[in-house]
Amino acid sequence: MKNKILKILKEEDKYISGEDISKALNVSRTAVWKHINELRNDGYVIQSSSKKGYRFLKAPDILDKREINIPKGQFIGSNIRYFEEIDSTNSYAKKIANEGCAHGTVVISEVQTMGRGRVGRQWQSDTAEGIWFSIVVRPDLEPENIQVITLAASVAVVEAIKETCGIICGIKWPNDIILNGRKLGGILTELSAEPGHVNYVVVGIGLNANQDLEHFDYEIRQKAISLKMYAGKSISRANLLGSILTRFEKIYKSILLGENRDIIDKWTAYSVTIGKEVKVAYKDMEYFGKALSVASDGRLIVECKDGVTREISAGEIQV
Ligand code: BTN
Repeated sequence: MKNKILKILKEEDKYISGEDISKALNVSRTAVWKHINELRNDGYVIQSSSKKGYRFLKAPDILDKREINIPKGQFIGSNIRYFEEIDSTNSYAKKIANEGCAHGTVVISEVQTMGRGRVGRQWQSDTAEGIWFSIVVRPDLEPENIQVITLAASVAVVEAIKETCGIICGIKWPNDIILNGRKLGGILTELSAEPGHVNYVVVGIGLNANQDLEHFDYEIRQKAISLKMYAGKSISRANLLGSILTRFEKIYKSILLGENRDIIDKWTAYSVTIGKEVKVAYKDMEYFGKALSVASDGRLIVECKDGVTREISAGEIQV
């Protein structure tokens, strides 16, 4: 009922009387008043006037599904599991994926207590100012071909940031989201597969949205950035998340149609790595050379100083 009232208030966009709401939903005016107070306790700002009724003013900055707009019929995000706090959305997503959750399920948490990054690193996500979420997909692809999903996710993130915040970011191989030379976000993709068959892929995305510099641990302050730090004002996390999910679904569908070339081209256009001199640290080795391109399996092709062209599948690079 509470959500139905919220929907009416949002759609009306001007004052609507308690009586009209109660008639529309066939409930008493006291019930309407009670639910409006509950919405206020959830953080919604709703104006009231004894003559005119109620008027929706502002939603709270939460990533609750009521605030995330995705097109009707979209499968990515049609099933959302929302938490105020969890250890890691990726860990939870893997658990429910093993239990058979629907393709396209999205796990969101305002705060993570044990956020995980690539190569066993920690991911600082102890504040509700960021966007921390994981998408479960069950693609009909060979396990060796799923890397393109991570490339697609980074393209969706960069394009959604451009659309909703007007900010242009870059992608550093393999999938760091970069703004002003600093790390704005990252993607941790985890796979469950058997030979020739993918059970599920969890695409975990972490984005620094509204943190101030002091929110970051001292060790990463020189390297990290948030959208708010760059723009000088807070951004709507819910709008950005809705846009990422919508764009990801579109790109994901194009992968299943075999249109990987388009994704690689977009990834390359946003890349801050391709065409640059890079240092690649891989296991105990270090290579220097020029990053030429990215292959459709996500490998970075580097023309090394020793004359050998190598395809790098994992590791860290410095541009
Ligand atoms: C990286 O190291 O760059 C990847 C960071 C990925 C962080 C996200 S936040 C949501 C999801 N849950 C996690 O525990 N990690 C990913």
